[in-house]
Amino acid sequence: MKGILICGGTGSRLRPLTEITNKSLLPVYDKPLLLYPLQTLLSAGITDIAVITGPEHMDQIAQFLGSGERFGCTFSFKVQERPAGIAHALGLAEEFAAGESVCAILGDNVFFDDLSPVIRSFKTGAHLFLKEVHDPERFGVAEINASGKVLSIEEKPAEPKSNFAATGCYLYESDCFDIISGLLPSARGEIEITDLSKAYLMKSELTATILTDEWVDAGTFESLHKAAVIVRERKMEAIDQAKKRSAGKRLTTEVI
Ligand code: DAU
Repeated sequence: MKGILICGGTGSRLRPLTEITNKSLLPVYDKPLLLYPLQTLLSAGITDIAVITGPEHMDQIAQFLGSGERFGCTFSFKVQERPAGIAHALGLAEEFAAGESVCAILGDNVFFDDLSPVIRSFKTGAHLFLKEVHDPERFGVAEINASGKVLSIEEKPAEPKSNFAATGCYLYESDCFDIISGLLPSARGEIEITDLSKAYLMKSELTATILTDEWVDAGTFESLHKAAVIVRERKMEAIDQAKKRSAGKRLTTEVI
């Protein structure tokens, strides 16, 4: 399976920060945002990764990521000339995917669940990761039945049919590129990732996993800050636990 890290777009909700750099290079506590979705791919054993971004900040992204050597992976870079939609960005990776299935992940999404068992076991069709949110109208929204089957999916509906947001990690079989080439732009002029998922739903080939831990789409000031707060909390917890463990060891030694 190939990885596609999608980092283009205008980042308009984060101006003026995104006038200086790409959204995905903005800091989330102690690391640039894109390292979080990159970690999601690496944790799932995906090491052949295409990075897609606009022409404005491709130089900064390529300079930061380099060949991939220091992350134990290989990067290929592809420029999306204009922000024509997330599915359009994914479509640029057809040659790179070379007939393999893909895990496409958005450069502004931070996952705290471990997605790797699902990614590693993916075989056919398409698979979404859903998260229950209080503001579903901001996202792609999936309606599911009691057994978790996806019944519908809509992009930023005014009247959402559920509270389940489609997060920015998508698993697609290699036929996704043929489907993308047949998609028409939406009313806002974008080739929508939700339309790609909808095409799999129509073929009864769309499945989903519901996430239980935190998930952040860090595309606004509030959510960018929220991601940093959660990362910091988790780091502090880990440090506290490590301290307790080593204090325990010292105590044992002292008793002996
Ligand atoms: O975060 C999950 C949501 O991401 C999904 O629920 C929505 O269905 C999906 O459309 C998307 O919504 P956003 O409004 O958050 O998309 P945004 O425009 O912020 O783009 C998400 C990422 O994709 C961002 O890192 C920029 C990149 N992108 C976006 C567009 C439109 C591209 O690389 N090229 C593009 O043309």
